[in-house]
Amino acid sequence: MKKDKNRVYIFDTSLRDGEQSPGNSMNTEEKLLLARQLENLGVDIIEAGFPIASEGDFDAVRQISRVIRKSQVAGLARANKVDIDRAWQAIKAAAHPRIHTFISSSDIHLKYQLKKSRAQVLDEAVAAVRLAKSYTDNVEFSPMDATRSDRDYLVQMVAAVIDAGAIAVNIPDTVGYAVPEEFGDLIAYLFANVKNIDRAILSVHCHNDLGLAVANSLAAIRAGARQVECTINGIGERAGNTAMEEIVMALATRKDLYGLYTGIKTEQIYKTSRLLTQITGIAVQPNKAIVGANAFAHESGIHQDGLIKEKITYEIMTPKSVGISDTHIVLGKHSGRAAIAHHLKKMGYVLTEEQLNRVAAKVKELADIKKDIYDEDLQAIIYEDVYRGEEKYHLIYLNVVSGNVAIPTATMEMKVGAEVVRDAGFGNGPVDATFAAIRNITKTNYPLLKYAVNAITGGSDAQGETMVQLKYNGHTVVGRGAHPDVIVASAKAYINALNRLEFLKSNVKKVKVELS
Ligand code: KIV
Ligand code: ZN
Repeated sequence: MKKDKNRVYIFDTSLRDGEQSPGNSMNTEEKLLLARQLENLGVDIIEAGFPIASEGDFDAVRQISRVIRKSQVAGLARANKVDIDRAWQAIKAAAHPRIHTFISSSDIHLKYQLKKSRAQVLDEAVAAVRLAKSYTDNVEFSPMDATRSDRDYLVQMVAAVIDAGAIAVNIPDTVGYAVPEEFGDLIAYLFANVKNIDRAILSVHCHNDLGLAVANSLAAIRAGARQVECTINGIGERAGNTAMEEIVMALATRKDLYGLYTGIKTEQIYKTSRLLTQITGIAVQPNKAIVGANAFAHESGIHQDGLIKEKITYEIMTPKSVGISDTHIVLGKHSGRAAIAHHLKKMGYVLTEEQLNRVAAKVKELADIKKDIYDEDLQAIIYEDVYRGEEKYHLIYLNVVSGNVAIPTATMEMKVGAEVVRDAGFGNGPVDATFAAIRNITKTNYPLLKYAVNAITGGSDAQGETMVQLKYNGHTVVGRGAHPDVIVASAKAYINALNRLEFLKSNVKKVKVELS
């Protein structure tokens, strides 16, 4: 990587650290979809996964490596030969492959987890970097739990791995323990004491346990770090990782203070955030910075008055700069195929003729029940009807009877593999009855952990976006559905959760590796 002292490189780990967190698991097609969008967004390095963890992880990293041409693709590996060999096999087809290897450096981890001495761990770190270097020049090393490590041992380890050939050294706050002044000071200490630090890029990887991941990353940047590891919507282990959209917009909005830039096309931020929500079914909270529903909504009369007079009074960045268009109304009943194609192109979607036909048909269907079609509606159609791959369960027909004098009843027909199955269900209400019908048809009965409904856009004809969370064998799976009829949306979400559960069953991690 050519060093430019004013550029902050964005290393996205949504597909690795993000994906390993509860509810965020994705199948290979979904990972490919997100990886492509991360490339469009302008991410410098996409950490595609942890290839040793399972066949599914390996395969996803390999497929991503084959299609991503501009961004670097990183595969994670513990500091041992088996992991590093496996990571290399998965990423070697990438245009710009990177091996990211790590081992703990804190005495707490050495004593209780690794049960190894400092000298032993230092040797393993160096050997790992040398081995990775025999495959590619592009090697990154992370001393895990760096923020709780002895500073001088950390200096020794960082210097040793740079001597062994690491071109990026990442300082993780693995347990989210650091606070900004202290973390900035640690980075400054490394710059002052690691004699060969100029031969590598210093990176940071912060967890959000104290809600400080973004603040810590910014403090590190002020101290000289030039790579930030982060995730879309801040997903990740426990309280998550540094949110990419927040770090990127902080640097862009406060260019006066930092004088730095990233390669991120900020207008793609909202679309990427929505795509992740659609894939995982996990919505961001309304007051989430940059991408939350209220992030640009001004309610206060005084603020509105100021905004009308001059936007700069209360707006530090425009919705447009993150890809939220001012006017969302795009299409209606009479929009033709050409208009749809034109609009999709403006939104950054390049579809095949066949995919475009499918979207056009769905837009017509939706326009029969909903007056205006918004960007978010189009995105929901694309995700649900174009991108979703082979699935075991499909909804064919749903009819629900409910009301204050009826016993809520759902009759339903579904495709289960190659078979068409019809059954009915009763419940406390229409959703409960629908879920009962699905359980009868699929002969499944997984505990339902959560069910939520949201309106994608405003208005009483808005599409309902529903989320269903099911439990299976200690795992949770999230399904998502969108439709103007919330009962249909709920059925779609339940069925989506079952399809994801099928995927999970065939991909349960073979090697359980504890990581954060
Ligand atoms: O949090 C952490 O320490 C990690 C490393 C593997 C970089 O995720
Ligand atoms: Zn992490």
